Amino acid sequence: MDTVDAAEPLVIFIFGVTGDLTRKKLMPALFSLYLNERLSEFRIVGFARREWSQEHFRDQVREMIANVGGASEEQRNRFVQSVVYLQSTFEDPAGYEKLREHAAGFPNRIYYLSTPPGAYEEVIRSLGEHGLARSDTGYVRIIVEKPFGRDLASAQSLNSLLQSCFDESQIYRIDHYLGKETVQNLMMLRFGNGIFEPVWNNRYVDHVQITVAENAGVGTRGNYYERAGALRDMIQNHTFQLLAITAMEPPNDTSPDSIRDEKVKIIRSLDPVTHREPDRHVVRAQYSAGVVDGSEVAGYLTEDGVDPESQTETYAALRLYLDSWRWAGVPFVLRTGKRLSRKATEISVHFKHPPLHFFGPAGSPLQRNVLSIRIQPQEGITLNVNAKIPGYATAVRPVSMDFAYGSAFGPAVPEAYERLLFDAMKGDNTLYTRNDEIEASWSFINRILDHWSTQDGPLPQYAAGSAGPDEARGLLADGDRRWRRV
Ligand code: BG6
Repeated sequence: MDTVDAAEPLVIFIFGVTGDLTRKKLMPALFSLYLNERLSEFRIVGFARREWSQEHFRDQVREMIANVGGASEEQRNRFVQSVVYLQSTFEDPAGYEKLREHAAGFPNRIYYLSTPPGAYEEVIRSLGEHGLARSDTGYVRIIVEKPFGRDLASAQSLNSLLQSCFDESQIYRIDHYLGKETVQNLMMLRFGNGIFEPVWNNRYVDHVQITVAENAGVGTRGNYYERAGALRDMIQNHTFQLLAITAMEPPNDTSPDSIRDEKVKIIRSLDPVTHREPDRHVVRAQYSAGVVDGSEVAGYLTEDGVDPESQTETYAALRLYLDSWRWAGVPFVLRTGKRLSRKATEISVHFKHPPLHFFGPAGSPLQRNVLSIRIQPQEGITLNVNAKIPGYATAVRPVSMDFAYGSAFGPAVPEAYERLLFDAMKGDNTLYTRNDEIEASWSFINRILDHWSTQDGPLPQYAAGSAGPDEARGLLADGDRRWRRV
């Protein structure tokens, strides 16, 4: 199904509509879908606790879509007229009765759960109890924002509650990294080309690095982040998804379950060696004060909402192995952190050296071939190869073969949320995570969290604006393996 019948009336309820996600991502994405004629007979109902008037909400929405270009005043007005505010607590039965009234006349319904995670269960249960989880006239789907649980037990209990009210086919667990064009292109790169798959294994690959670096700090989210930390916030979900797509076997076809079956196998094949010796394979740290992009910034412990004695990690790096025929013995090193020198998400595949080294003076090894896939920014793919420097001598230097999205396709790449919302409207959950994927990743992560909970004392520090803690170097200190520059 590649299309949506935009004329099929659809109502979208956003729970927790007053939050940042609606402002920054959801409303602009919905407005773009409307401009691209993917939404025509629709209503958007914002459900939240704050005492906002209808008028105030509409003014807010007008601001939220102000930066979406290419729209006429008339289109903006029509969109703003289609949004409605529903003020209610998440517990109040009257709120759900009002919701039912707003849904009248719209056979199709999408609920978007973007409340603080503490309210998820209440909303899901209430939708179930009020008979709002099903409809005889159209579809009902629920999109659940992250965080999906904070450990295995809470993720399992959220899954079972969801599944007691909705069918799995109605549930869309979001991981916005899957909506990124460059992440989708990773599958195209691997399975739409003949030249990569033959070398995509332990015979040719030395190791793989996955970096999700951010230069931003925790900003106004100190309260949330204190209970999360880098492992929960970025590794369990986004980074593991990148790992799964990089390492998965070719699926039988492109159906949602064929793809997700292969991804979950990767997470299940993670070698427990990481758990046996966590301190050898996992590094965590916290940023201290430093300089980012020329400005002095505070350390984590003095950020708003952060306990001055906090042991929450803002950086995590892991060396993982996959127990599989294809990948046995190949380290996959993952790292993520806040307040690093720049924002960069990249997957790099480092190939083995050729069996004999003919060129250059003895002892000057050739550089490895590296295929680097830039997820963001400067989206693109680069392959480094060794080339002969022109001249009489036989000297070698690495050069790069480049593909840049900007020059190949122009700058207009749809936002992740736009694509994901569109897929939910189509009923395609390929780019959403399945219950077993989430539980498998929590079950792996949980054992590291358990280990950390037995440790005491301050965490290693790294200066804001740096490449991360020195301790992470040891994860890749073998031979000529090095982390790529952040
Ligand atoms: C979110 C995390 O899921 O992803 C944030 O909660 C993080 O802490 C963000 O900053 C990163 O997303 P992106 O798309 O900017 O890489």
